[in-house]
Amino acid sequence: MLNTNYAQLFLRDILLKVLAINGSARMQNGYTAMILTPFLEGMKQAEAQVELFYSKQLNVSPCTGEFQCWYKKPGQCYIPDSMQLVYPKLREADTLVLAIPVYIPLPGEMQNFINRLCPLIEPILSKRNGRTRARLHGNVNIRRIVLVSACGWWEKGNFSTVLRTVKEIARDTNTNFAGALLRPHAGYLDKNKETTKEILGAARKAGFLLATEGKIPNYLLETIAQPLIAEEVFRQGENEQYRNLKREK
Ligand SMILES: Cc1cc2nc3c(=O)[nH]c(=O)nc-3n(C[C@H](O)[C@H](O)[C@H](O)COP(=O)(O)O)c2cc1C
Repeated sequence: MLNTNYAQLFLRDILLKVLAINGSARMQNGYTAMILTPFLEGMKQAEAQVELFYSKQLNVSPCTGEFQCWYKKPGQCYIPDSMQLVYPKLREADTLVLAIPVYIPLPGEMQNFINRLCPLIEPILSKRNGRTRARLHGNVNIRRIVLVSACGWWEKGNFSTVLRTVKEIARDTNTNFAGALLRPHAGYLDKNKETTKEILGAARKAGFLLATEGKIPNYLLETIAQPLIAEEVFRQGENEQYRNLKREK
């Protein structure tokens, strides 16, 4: 009995606390959610505590750029909106999942959310990865950041801006960028039932392995991002569909 209690205490300490923010305007109906859902389920299967918010529902106000959270009341944002509920959760989480679909470059609500992370950051500066960078406040537990993203067009190159953005956030906060679950030409998921099953299975396994082993194997990320249609056929099909629509008008 005593041993079980110790085991439970030990497990509680090492279990992940995951905070996920989905930035898709289509929220649970989008392709971002299609990948994010099994990923989070995989983590829950490994007993992680997972909480999910939609930036659209949070209705986060823009940062006012006054740096009060740095130089007037360090660590505190004075804007009285839903972020005040999220800040304590952000401080407690060890894993932050940013689910950001490509919206040349990202959805506005998500940009607001990212800007409002400022009070978690302490302006003690050092040079890391070739640039001046800050760090997280001592009471912020975030240790790693994961990106989940979906885009409409064929190439993984469409993710370059969101990928760079999230990698920069990880560098600026001195946290580990733990990988990116990227789903290009996401609209084709609906058309390939068997491959889609494989992709969603890989997303679930990625979540489980991140929670249990602390990393996501590359082969799973490649399975998630695999082509669902040949590149040239994709463009021809999209153009044909658009031209047909235009003719009907
Ligand atoms: C404003 C806007 C800009 C977009 N820009 C791009 C883009 O540059 N490249 C791309 O591949 N897809 C682009 N897309 C397509 C979305 O990434 C795609 O529809 C994705 O599935 C959206 O995520 P969701 O399904 O979770 O809403 C854009 C969509 C919108 C609404």
